[in-house]
Amino acid sequence: MTCRVEVLFTPTEFRALRERDLARTTCVVFDVLRATSTIVTALAAGAASVLPVNEIAEALAVRRQRPDVLLAGERDGLRIGAALTGGIEFDLGNSPREFTAARVAGKTIVMTTTNGTRALRACAGAERILVASFLNLEATADFLGRENPESLLLVCAGTGKDAALEDTLAAGALCDALKSAKLEHELEDAALIARDAFLQARQDLAHAIGEARNARRLLRQPELRDDVEFCLRRNAFPLVAANEADGGIRRLR
Ligand code: MLT
Repeated sequence: MTCRVEVLFTPTEFRALRERDLARTTCVVFDVLRATSTIVTALAAGAASVLPVNEIAEALAVRRQRPDVLLAGERDGLRIGAALTGGIEFDLGNSPREFTAARVAGKTIVMTTTNGTRALRACAGAERILVASFLNLEATADFLGRENPESLLLVCAGTGKDAALEDTLAAGALCDALKSAKLEHELEDAALIARDAFLQARQDLAHAIGEARNARRLLRQPELRDDVEFCLRRNAFPLVAANEADGGIRRLR
């Protein structure tokens, strides 16, 4: 069967997913800068699971039930501090470089970010949800080639309310990689747009992404600027990250 491949570029589109039956759809979520890159890095460092939640209050509620979890995430790009929680400091922000084995191995991490974890939660009814980034792009494409889904929805988390170039380019890179992954597929127009944007930018992705709003924001901040280069390392972590029945994201292989 030929797999139909669609791309959603903006939060307005992913919020509308609640109206849609995703029971036979595999969603692949991209928030290259930085939530999905951070989740992939955490799993590569040995985290047991990452549970995405929409709101800070939900993260705090999980911590009350399970004091052993780590709290992670950002608002305005920065680690969530006591002023936003009524006194509790989150353990980690949203910089993938913080998620070392020493900090996260064996841990469950509850995470809330502005766009990325919301995009993941918006896919809740999907047959399967994969967490993707440039760090695990090829492993994700190969997995899709083996799984042969009926329908594939690439969900770009975006920046604020808008599309994000880095997510579009990563979704386009995945569309391009499906060929070598031997998935029989057909790209819908949005997927063709993403793939063509990637093919045009691929010779110098760092330059193209450096012009994007999210990258410019990170590059302006000395403590966050190295995250951009970190997140653009192609296939640094050859793992597949997928949701499980409890909503947590785990490493499949
Ligand atoms: C998000 O989820 O909106 C982003 O990952 C923001 C960030 O770079 O921290």
